Amino acid sequence: MSWLSTLWSSGSTPVVEAAQLRDAARLAQLHGASFHRGWGEGEFETMLRERNTLVHRLQLGRKTVGFAVSRMGADEAEILSIAVDAAYRGRGWSRSLLLTHLGHLAGRGVRRIFLEVEENNHPARRLYERTGFSTVGHRESYYRQSGGEQLNALLMRRDLS
Ligand SMILES: CC(C)(COP(=O)(O)OP(=O)(O)OC[C@H]1O[C@@H](n2cnc3c(N)ncnc32)[C@H](O)[C@@H]1OP(=O)(O)O)[C@@H](O)C(=O)NCCC(=O)NCCS
Repeated sequence: MSWLSTLWSSGSTPVVEAAQLRDAARLAQLHGASFHRGWGEGEFETMLRERNTLVHRLQLGRKTVGFAVSRMGADEAEILSIAVDAAYRGRGWSRSLLLTHLGHLAGRGVRRIFLEVEENNHPARRLYERTGFSTVGHRESYYRQSGGEQLNALLMRRDLS
């Protein structure tokens, strides 16, 4: 295979696609590598089957390098989780992932989106601020770490027009 066709087949820029049931294992792997309490493959399978849950994958060639999950109810939604593989962070890819995800939520009639983020999670806070979310609440000692340390959470909101 030539250098050019290798580059083409592996993909040099990611695309955002609807996740499928067969992605559950990889999504669980990505989630487990990004969060203290990882979601299992079965949890992803359940979410991928539910009609009120929207799951997108960030796809680089044949490799899934990120995902976004939200749950919808009436005209509101909550971003439940978003992550990018650590090897691919810092490239601005999460922004296109989240903006595409928000566009699909808007297409489903969602008008208000909420999420919770740990106060010290600066990359995530920056991502949400850059995609139009503002802080609307503060929850003291919301997250408990394995060592017992308690962390504060921010509640953020974005309205879609
Ligand atoms: C949050 C996450 C999805 C961001 O993905 P990413 O592809 O690295 O995001 P980006 O490259 O677009 O960077 C996001 C912003 O954070 C900034 N940033 C990165 N590291 C930072 C740091 N340590 N401190 C402050 N800002 C930082 C970037 O400069 C960028 O801001 P900019 O757009 O103004 O330049 C990724 O870090 C991740 O998967 N984290 C683990 C899971 C997680 O915490 N998810 C969010 C749960 S609420």
